Amino acid sequence: MKLIVCKDYDDMSKKASELVISNMVEKPQLKFGFATGSSPIGLYKNLIAAQKEGEISFKYAKSVNLDEYVGIGADNEQSYSYFMHKNLFDQVNIKKENINLPYAPENDEKYALEYRKVLDEFGQRDIQILGLGENGHIAFNEPAEKLNRRASIIKLTESTIEANARFFENEDEVPRYALSMGVEEVFNSRTLIVLASGKNKHEAVKRLLNDDTISTELPCSLLNLHPNVYLFVDEEAYKG
Ligand code: GLP
Repeated sequence: MKLIVCKDYDDMSKKASELVISNMVEKPQLKFGFATGSSPIGLYKNLIAAQKEGEISFKYAKSVNLDEYVGIGADNEQSYSYFMHKNLFDQVNIKKENINLPYAPENDEKYALEYRKVLDEFGQRDIQILGLGENGHIAFNEPAEKLNRRASIIKLTESTIEANARFFENEDEVPRYALSMGVEEVFNSRTLIVLASGKNKHEAVKRLLNDDTISTELPCSLLNLHPNVYLFVDEEAYKG
């Protein structure tokens, strides 16, 4: 794992976007895996700016997304689909037909099976952007005795519901289930770019870097098994 300690959130976003931009310049038909959450917003802003300046283009890029809440549609402001359009897709020239977003209007495993097919057809990504949950989850693969290999509907933990409540009017409104890529699918990318910023990520970052063991109880510890991971952390996430 390549560790890049950055001064703060802006510095982390800048350094991560430089890596993405250099990959896009080299290969315009890049296949992306995108993540939502506050961690990648700065990176997406920099990519939008780089396209405006003519440095990069999303014309030939393709994307899949990691996860989505169950039961909220794309027009709901809390959906990850809405997030992606607002924070990236609507502001760059990526083609609609090249965007793939998970969708589960209800808690039914058939939507996970559909998404597995999408991911199989999409194949290996070039770059997967990833955030970390405070409890060390990746996508919505929550700490557990066993983790899913493939896309599945997941019951969110109390700690994730609490952490994500800040985006909703109150905790009761946070969906209890999500459709998420499984770990094997998250890892099906040539490069993983992981972003962690702020004190609340320190525990997960510290354990990811220092634990002698790898455990499904700390899903991000599995990142140690991938051959090409860039971990961008700011000082708060690194030092606590
Ligand atoms: C959610 C998402 C994850 C994301 C995590 C961290 O739970 N399912 O994919 O990485 O939150 O979010 P943030 O970047 O807002 O801290």
